[in-house]
Amino acid sequence: MTSTNAAASHASEAAAAGAERRWAIIVMMIIALLLAMMIFTGLHWASMPPSRVETVDPRTLHVSGEFVENNLGTTVDANGKVMVRLIAQQYSFEPQCLVVPAGVPVTFRATSADAIHGFVVDKTNANVMLIPGFVATFTATFKESGERLMPCHEYCGTGHEAMWGRVQVLPADEFLAKVKGAERMSCVPR
Ligand code: CUA
Repeated sequence: MTSTNAAASHASEAAAAGAERRWAIIVMMIIALLLAMMIFTGLHWASMPPSRVETVDPRTLHVSGEFVENNLGTTVDANGKVMVRLIAQQYSFEPQCLVVPAGVPVTFRATSADAIHGFVVDKTNANVMLIPGFVATFTATFKESGERLMPCHEYCGTGHEAMWGRVQVLPADEFLAKVKGAERMSCVPR
């Protein structure tokens, strides 16, 4: 009787030791995986930072520099690179209507003159926060021509709901034909 008891307790002790060893190995593997993820993301982001930090003085936006009124809107440089500059302010975008070509990468440079605003163009992945003092830069390609809405999607004050603009996506040839006439384009009625 006592010998079978002793044998049973010996067997369960061995089972416990085995389970402990298995769990120790699993825990070590989890730690190794987390370390590998940390090393990978650290190296990866070091070589490819998520964004540059570029500052601008929100108090002088309208007076001097890149974001003065006559420098806002869409431009095409000699290499055909399309660039849109805009400002968000309580409670409108400047310009209120952007013109961009379809199927061509468009680089946006935008900032805010006052509060934090959100910039998003519906049916696209153009989505960025506009923070006073910082320049947001991103590139988006609009697949289809047509009109898109551009609402502010960050609560910025009592007029937030009324803050929205439009994006007119033109077929690339139609866009290029328009470029010749004006240096800086928008679809704001003048
Ligand atoms: Cu601007 Cu909400």
